[in-house]
Amino acid sequence: MMKSEIRIPRFDAYERVMHWMAALSFLYATLTGLAVWSPKLYWLAGVFGGGFVIRGTHPWSGVIFSAVIGWMFARWAKTMGLDSDDKVWLTKMDKYITHQHGALPESGRFNAGQKMLFWSQVVTALLLFASGIVMWFPEWMPRSLRLIAIAMHPLAAIGSISGIIVHIYMGTAAVPHSMRAMLRGWVVPEWARFHHPKWYRQWRDSTNIR
Ligand code: HEM
Repeated sequence: MMKSEIRIPRFDAYERVMHWMAALSFLYATLTGLAVWSPKLYWLAGVFGGGFVIRGTHPWSGVIFSAVIGWMFARWAKTMGLDSDDKVWLTKMDKYITHQHGALPESGRFNAGQKMLFWSQVVTALLLFASGIVMWFPEWMPRSLRLIAIAMHPLAAIGSISGIIVHIYMGTAAVPHSMRAMLRGWVVPEWARFHHPKWYRQWRDSTNIR
């Protein structure tokens, strides 16, 4: 087989559906959340059917997002644990940013930066869900909890949105061909060897393809 015809499976159909459900529910919850958060951004409400509509749909999109992150956790938590190479990688993150990949320990299926994105999204999703539930049913909650929730919800949202802005930049402009992995499910060996050498070797050792 010609090398360029080789396709390494990266994300199966369940993972891709899961990921794009996370992306869609995240974008909807973010844009409608920004609309109810700041009067300057209230114009966004018009895009989604008006203030009355998004007051009803925003919390539900948050519930869907949280459920999908729960699914992601069940599916990927094991893979996202940091090994000793990842810990060294994190201390040398500047080398990644300045494209000195050779100075970094080799990555497995996900690099340590991707793993940190995963964990930060799990934590912020939990905070958003908990504070969101408190604000959804204020009449059942003590005042102190309501005040904590009002402060926590936008702070967790800012953390989550900042992470996803970096993630979108990495997945589109910064690391070419990543989108193919998430859209079509596969990558070419050159991509895998460069970005995820340990994962590439595992795949190579499990097949006869060289
Ligand atoms: C909205 C636009 C988004 C785009 C364009 C995008 C793009 C991508 C791409 C291309 C990958 C594959 C990276 C690889 O093969 O190594 C990926 C992986 C992943 N995405 Fe997204 N994504 C988006 C939103 C999200 C959201 C909202 C979440 C969760 C809150 C998320 C969580 C993840 C995780 C945990 C991975 C695996 C690890 C990683 O690559 O960081 N993504 N995404």
